[in-house]
Amino acid sequence: MHPADARRALVELLQMAYSGERAAAYAYLGHIRSLRRPAEAPDREMLRQVLVEEIQHRRIVRSMLRSLDAAPDERRERKMRRIGLTIGALCRVTGWYGPMYGAGRLESRNVVEYEVAARLAHQAGCDEMAHRLLELAEVEWDHERKFRERASSHRFWRVSPHWAAPAPRSDIRATFHDFVRTDKPVPALRWTPLR
Ligand SMILES: [Fe+2]
Ligand SMILES: [Fe+2]
Repeated sequence: MHPADARRALVELLQMAYSGERAAAYAYLGHIRSLRRPAEAPDREMLRQVLVEEIQHRRIVRSMLRSLDAAPDERRERKMRRIGLTIGALCRVTGWYGPMYGAGRLESRNVVEYEVAARLAHQAGCDEMAHRLLELAEVEWDHERKFRERASSHRFWRVSPHWAAPAPRSDIRATFHDFVRTDKPVPALRWTPLR
């Protein structure tokens, strides 16, 4: 891919990721607020940690956009805020399984999103940024694991359709280095684990 095309695709993907983090943050905040019982303290704590990391991601992605002379997509920002608030509000009526299940599914997509972004960054000649994007992918991997574990403790898990489990965490870097070495094309964003 030509570096200028990679850069354009990277900006678009980072705008998506940036607003996606916003939706996630609002949704997790709503979920935290819906968990009021003392027995739910461990879930609240887990969500609070994830929330802090999503806010950090937003800050990091924002500075990446700035370094590419780009800005967030304001329309997408408004849309993702609405979506996040709606999901957050729904958490009050659905019980914990739906939100944990939905979050796990979403986080598995975030892993791929940052992996693809890292490849685009490499092709755009931004290797330092590629490295940071892989770190974000790894944190999303940790998030997916937390939500998968929590959701799978529910009796509904056995009868729910499951999203594809991410590849091992170490594959995030291994497959990236393989991509750099072999000069493979950047994979399309398909929401299934990169292999
Ligand atoms: Fe994130
Ligand atoms: Fe996340």
